[in-house]
Amino acid sequence: MNEKSIIKVKNLTKMFNKFTAVDNVSFDVKKGEIFGLLGPNGAGKSTILRMLSTLARPTSGTAQIGGYDVIKNDNDVRKLIGIVSEKMIMYNRLTAKENLLFFGNLFNIPKNVLAKKVDDLLELVQLTKFKNSQVGTFSTGMQQRMNVVRALLNTPQVLYLDEPTLGLDPQSSVEIREFIKKLNRENGTTVIVTTHMMVDADLMCDRIAIIDHGKIVALDTSANLKKQLSGTKTTIIKLEIVNLNPEIVETIQTLKCADSVTQEDSTHLKILVHGEEAFDSIIDAIRSKKGKITSIENLQPTLEDVFLHLTGHQVRDSTNQKMPVDTHRGPFARPKARIR
Ligand SMILES: Nc1ncnc2c1ncn2[C@@H]1O[C@H](COP(=O)(O)OP(=O)(O)O)[C@@H](O)[C@H]1O
Ligand SMILES: [Mg+2]
Repeated sequence: MNEKSIIKVKNLTKMFNKFTAVDNVSFDVKKGEIFGLLGPNGAGKSTILRMLSTLARPTSGTAQIGGYDVIKNDNDVRKLIGIVSEKMIMYNRLTAKENLLFFGNLFNIPKNVLAKKVDDLLELVQLTKFKNSQVGTFSTGMQQRMNVVRALLNTPQVLYLDEPTLGLDPQSSVEIREFIKKLNRENGTTVIVTTHMMVDADLMCDRIAIIDHGKIVALDTSANLKKQLSGTKTTIIKLEIVNLNPEIVETIQTLKCADSVTQEDSTHLKILVHGEEAFDSIIDAIRSKKGKITSIENLQPTLEDVFLHLTGHQVRDSTNQKMPVDTHRGPFARPKARIR
């Protein structure tokens, strides 16, 4: 094990009755790293974070944060961590500043220290201008920044963020990602972030563990994960086809050489293929269904392709970041991710 690891997870398993939600997971996180847990809904990401936060007890295996065991030294662990969970409570009628002072008092932070801390944190997330506005009037992106700030009140060495961009519009997602990176860079905070969004993992994380059905199926930097795929016999091609019809897609899907077929728009197909006969078979299939190929492009693998290759299915961003927030469930409720 690496001496510089601040988080050491070994054979961590969580069972709910007979169902294994987290299956023998091991990984280390280095001090100052942004570490991503990437996987579809139900993969076990939140359960891993809950165990690392002392909120759920592992069925077996161990996890240490800063040398403290999550079961034996749970109080010490809690002092080191900050949690931004999927659901967060804040008081809509209180202002940004009042909320933070309230939660800071729960941590027993001395009054004068807390006042400065709150001012600094509001400045950090560029909400100083709104410090005396009620949180209920904030946009979803601003509220999410408040959620993150709330988790930073006790100056944690390790910050856990569970799906921080879920339900945010693209611009707010960019802001949150940039803010997490800034925090990591300037304060040296170690971060574990869960996401089902490829773009989050790709743009934010130093290393990514791809999780599927409770297991880590790959763990590396984004660049290395993509390189691994280039090293296999799998090729990704993009075809432009005149008269692209559902029959063409269905026929290609039945071919052994095609690992996956994605229709990108009315004229483009993206296909993961393998084998020497692949091109011939695909061209024959398209022609047999009256399609005409107007261009073929060889694509560099994306993280989505890596995921597809490793798991055999796609992480569907069906919430698409554009889904409106369900206000009936309160301003902090965010839509659940789904895979199709
Ligand atoms: N308290 C619980 N009781 C029973 N099953 C649970 C509980 N929490 C999570 N699960 C199940 O464990 C699996 C992993 O859940 P979760 O960790 O929330 O996944 P993710 O965060 O990756 O979407 C899911 O199938 C979920 O239904
Ligand atoms: Mg989750």
